[in-house]
Amino acid sequence: MANESTSIHGIWTSRWVFILAATGSAVGLGNIWKFPYMAGVYGGGAFVLVYLLCIALVGLPIMLAETVLGRRGRQSPVNTLRSLAVQAGASARWSWAAIMGMVAALLILSFYSVVAGWSLDYIIGMGRGEFVGIDGDSAGARFGSLTADPWRLTLWHSLFMLVTGVIIARGVVAGLEKSLRIMMPMLFVLLIILLGYSMTTGHFMQGLTFLFHFDLAEVPDGILAAMGHAFFTLSVGVGSIMVFGSYMPKNSSIGGTVMTVALLDTVVALTAGMALFPIVFAAGLEPSAGPGLMFVTLPIAFGNIAMGQVFGLMFFVLVAVAAWSSAISMLEPAVAYWVERTGRTRTQITALIALICWIVGLGTVLSFNVLADARFFVSDDSGWRLFVWGADGGKTLFESIDYLTSRIMLPLGGLLFALFAGWVIGRDVFRAELALRHPRLFPVVYWLLRYVAPTGVLIVFVTELFK
Ligand code: PHE
Ligand code: NA
Repeated sequence: MANESTSIHGIWTSRWVFILAATGSAVGLGNIWKFPYMAGVYGGGAFVLVYLLCIALVGLPIMLAETVLGRRGRQSPVNTLRSLAVQAGASARWSWAAIMGMVAALLILSFYSVVAGWSLDYIIGMGRGEFVGIDGDSAGARFGSLTADPWRLTLWHSLFMLVTGVIIARGVVAGLEKSLRIMMPMLFVLLIILLGYSMTTGHFMQGLTFLFHFDLAEVPDGILAAMGHAFFTLSVGVGSIMVFGSYMPKNSSIGGTVMTVALLDTVVALTAGMALFPIVFAAGLEPSAGPGLMFVTLPIAFGNIAMGQVFGLMFFVLVAVAAWSSAISMLEPAVAYWVERTGRTRTQITALIALICWIVGLGTVLSFNVLADARFFVSDDSGWRLFVWGADGGKTLFESIDYLTSRIMLPLGGLLFALFAGWVIGRDVFRAELALRHPRLFPVVYWLLRYVAPTGVLIVFVTELFK
């Protein structure tokens, strides 16, 4: 099967579509919502530094590997790994790495949809003018009343999942190209406008210092968090990039393409961070507020600038679109796999998988209200327990799923993909498929993939264990 010039799911008209789809996958809530709140929780600069290092040394090589594997295998990640392994005379069990990735992507989708639903709620809020002249306290209260209401959360979660399913069922390319080409640049322009507002708050430098200043002497305690987020933000370690790579036309260079995507993703995250933190400080809010950070700070900005209502409305629409283009990439590996496996239509498969994700997502909905006291992975004076109702520490269901995916499954999946591409399929296959425009860079890339990326993941895992 490998080495074919097409996939049964279709092929993209050019490298450009891959850039769009991969950027659409990468740029999402991870950049605008998750990156700033995690940087806030883990204290800023040191977290950001580790995150950037992980992008460059670990995430990027693995992203290249995934694209190479996908285009070589031309099937869903599970079958790609299986057939490439068999061809190389290795065990078909390598495909288990892709099965884990597929499951991780669906778990991520279950909570991603809920959070994306928050932006849908904020679109309405902006349209109604709820945020005009708002201050920190009322913005916090507004967010609190949203998350306290399971019905409202379920409504938006359902709507988001439904639209995701419809886009996926109709095939990835059709709607995607048009929307992304216009919306991604618009999102960026709005972030720049927000950045402009941040500069007027009088706390811009404080924001920058928070994000970029670190003390070399202190070992940051969020290193696993930072590495996990590097995987999350690049959509790496789950097969999303691999499945998009399998639709990439032959003979287009992978190296520069993947670099472009990673760079865009990083620029968007850093811009969002620089826009948010000055507002946090100016409004006297806590940087470590957690998942609500963006939904509390940005309304303050929009509530206090000229045309804020219009910009705010546009902004949350664009966030929702960015979330959709990421969400479809979480579904695609599983949909492609089950289409290959069962021969049923995309529509049938999508409906079933989206329904399952929707049900699992209800757990996240409830973890902000009814089930807020259900805590997993509790470790306190009485030792370590998997589940305690009403414990102070531990993680809610949402936090547990996030933890399990970002900090364990993604890095582990990425590690296995790197080992597979670096040690199993063979140097010549990898080199030919990668088709670097500057062949002299190949040894560096290959070395990063074979040694640096895997060791990086292992070091971070081990450091975390002995913390
Ligand atoms: N990269 C996406 C974001 O930053 C999230 C994502 C994770 C997408 C895993 C696909 C797979 O929002
Ligand atoms: Na991202």
